[in-house]
Amino acid sequence: MPSPAPQNRPLRVIGLMSGTSMDGVDAACIETDGAEHVVLCEDASTPFDPDFRAALRSFVASVPERGASPLEAGIEAKLTDLHARAVEHLLLRTKFRHDQIDLIGFHGQTIWHRPHRRLTWQMGDAQRLADAAGITVVSDFRSADVRSGGQGAPLVPVFHAALARDLEKPVGIVNIGGVANITLIGDGTLLAFDTGPGNGLIDDWVSMRASRPMDEDGRIAAAGRVDDGLVQRLLSHSYFAQCPPKSLDRHDFTLAPVAPLSTEDGAATLTAFTAAAIAAGLKHCPAKPRSLLVAGGGRHNPVMMAFIAQDAGIPVESVDSQGWRGDAVEAQAFAYLAVRSVRGLPITFPGTTGIDAPLTGGIVTPPAR
Ligand SMILES: Nc1ncnc2c1ncn2[C@@H]1O[C@H](COP(=O)(O)OP(=O)(O)O)[C@@H](O)[C@H]1O
Ligand SMILES: [Mg+2]
Repeated sequence: MPSPAPQNRPLRVIGLMSGTSMDGVDAACIETDGAEHVVLCEDASTPFDPDFRAALRSFVASVPERGASPLEAGIEAKLTDLHARAVEHLLLRTKFRHDQIDLIGFHGQTIWHRPHRRLTWQMGDAQRLADAAGITVVSDFRSADVRSGGQGAPLVPVFHAALARDLEKPVGIVNIGGVANITLIGDGTLLAFDTGPGNGLIDDWVSMRASRPMDEDGRIAAAGRVDDGLVQRLLSHSYFAQCPPKSLDRHDFTLAPVAPLSTEDGAATLTAFTAAAIAAGLKHCPAKPRSLLVAGGGRHNPVMMAFIAQDAGIPVESVDSQGWRGDAVEAQAFAYLAVRSVRGLPITFPGTTGIDAPLTGGIVTPPAR
């Protein structure tokens, strides 16, 4: 694999993430050697306009076979161009020139994730992005892992471990995006898995019932009552008893069970379900973490944060309390993983995706000119 620099020089890298919430592109710049040296620089979010979000969501919901939909090429080009725009937006903030950025880590948009069939699809045209930005792009981080029988997710844990280097262990880091996942970091141990739904079901619910893109600040949930019996029923799904490693597709849970509820009660119940699923994940920890640090959009929802604290019975804080940037952790992680990828370092581990041995991944695409 080509290496753009001596193995240990820190690189300046931009990471790009569009998660399962499909709310926009998060971009972040870090300087890192892909190991212990991590300096966080700027970050910026570029939201999708409502029409593109709707087009992307309906494309994902139709679960197309790759190459089978006439819409695919157009959506991929637009998605890639929005990532290129996110790079420009971030560069303006950092005041770095393009030639001062060594790499871009490009996650792409997950269209579907079927690790049991050894398939995962993150949409995005790496060559188009590399050409637009004039910067080498690393993409397709999950395929090597699923091809080797791993879950292909989560990928962020090795970055969480680098960030949490000086924290007291064991500590849990939760990310609440469309799906929620947890990383448990002990002294020299790393265990990670998807805990259950994140904001995805809540977004779908309030979009359907109240024409809102999200339950902002948990206001709709705060006006409702949790159906505890239903939360318990939802938690009886076999996924929660299953031992990690394990991962979810955004569509593994549906809104059907809450359909009879009012908008507010449905939002409250789905929020409680997400929180309870995170707490249920703690049962799979070898040692109970001292605290949970929460990243991702879900941490902006105070109702969600209160439910998690209540269910987990340990202190729960936003990662921002550690000086991290809670909306940028995943984008920063893909910058970090890009460096690990070009340096041949592992990005997935037996404790994170269930593969047999630590494995690198990612495809390197230099600009054509
Ligand atoms: N102020 C807020 N109140 C409630 N929920 C929020 C708020 N801000 C963001 N979110 C939720 O976070 C989601 C985006 O989270 P994000 O971490 O970007 O997820 P993903 O990685 O899946 O894109 C939004 O779709 C929304 O559900
Ligand atoms: Mg997002």
